[in-house]
Amino acid sequence: MNALQIPDLTGRTAVVTGANSGIGLPTARALGRAGAHVVLAVRDLDKGKAAATTVPGSHEVRRLDLAHLASVREFAASWDGDLDLLINNAGVMMAPEGRTKDGFETHFGTNHLGHFALTNLLLPHITDRVVTVSAAAHRWVKGIDFDNLYLAGEYNPRRAYGQSKLANLLFTLELQRRLSDVGSRVRSLAAHPGLAVSNLGPRSGLGAQLGRMLFKIVAQDTEAGAQPTLLAATQDVPGASYAGPDGHSGMRGAPALVGRTAAASDPAAAKRLWAQSAELTGTDFSGVPL
Ligand SMILES: NC(=O)c1ccc[n+]([C@@H]2O[C@H](COP(=O)([O-])OP(=O)(O)OC[C@H]3O[C@@H](n4cnc5c(N)ncnc54)[C@H](OP(=O)(O)O)[C@@H]3O)[C@@H](O)[C@H]2O)c1
Repeated sequence: MNALQIPDLTGRTAVVTGANSGIGLPTARALGRAGAHVVLAVRDLDKGKAAATTVPGSHEVRRLDLAHLASVREFAASWDGDLDLLINNAGVMMAPEGRTKDGFETHFGTNHLGHFALTNLLLPHITDRVVTVSAAAHRWVKGIDFDNLYLAGEYNPRRAYGQSKLANLLFTLELQRRLSDVGSRVRSLAAHPGLAVSNLGPRSGLGAQLGRMLFKIVAQDTEAGAQPTLLAATQDVPGASYAGPDGHSGMRGAPALVGRTAAASDPAAAKRLWAQSAELTGTDFSGVPL
């Protein structure tokens, strides 16, 4: 597959969450190769530093635990100056029922609320784009269960992951609406990698091991999986666009703009999710550069 033509990013700064692993690392490498200063935002500094040795150009590693709002606040409070690209990439998948430090369901709290808070807190610094990594798994759920966000009493890891990835798309939509409303030039976009061999998902147990073996046969590598994120981050596409692989069922292929479910395009659900997320995190849309 031909890699994207990434423009010269000299003088620009990008944050990539979860940049130490999976598709986050080749995303960071490609941005660094294009000249950007890349901040690897990771929950484990040792893993981050080891990964950073493979990132070309100017870069640094900073601690960010999306499952802990205090860490998100600390990361954002230490930010100084412009941030051109925020790539909300980190994620967890198919975790057993659990809670983040703030008591949110693990997938919803990490994949959605952590990035929701991070974006709102960094928004006054952001000059160009916010790219949020979703998944084809947003199709696994019919909608957000607003009355039981954490799926209490009916927990199912597949549903929890699918709901968090649907939330990523609704967040992208509502953020773009708010940016457009205030006449901001900042764009909110989404991407998904198709299937890419990474560290995502459970690794222990026979079922998980068999699943991973099968997955390796159909999935693409992480460099290819990073291409839709890089398309959304660097190509001239409209706000609220969703990039993914163009092949069969969006599992693999060249990066292109792709479709999403009706539930992921529902402006009323996007507004409702925003309001609930603002209340839960104590963060909201605020001053963006126009
Ligand atoms: N791979 C696929 O086929 C696929 C398909 C669809 C969507 N996606 C999406 O792609 C994104 C990246 O996943 P991946 O496949 O690259 O998986 P990965 O290799 O497991 O990478 C996930 C990254 O997120 C980080 N992370 C997890 N919890 C975090 C937290 N609380 N705070 C900060 N960072 C945290 C991980 O850190 P540690 O290394 O410390 O665990 C890791 O760096 C996710 O949003 C995922 O939903 C992946």
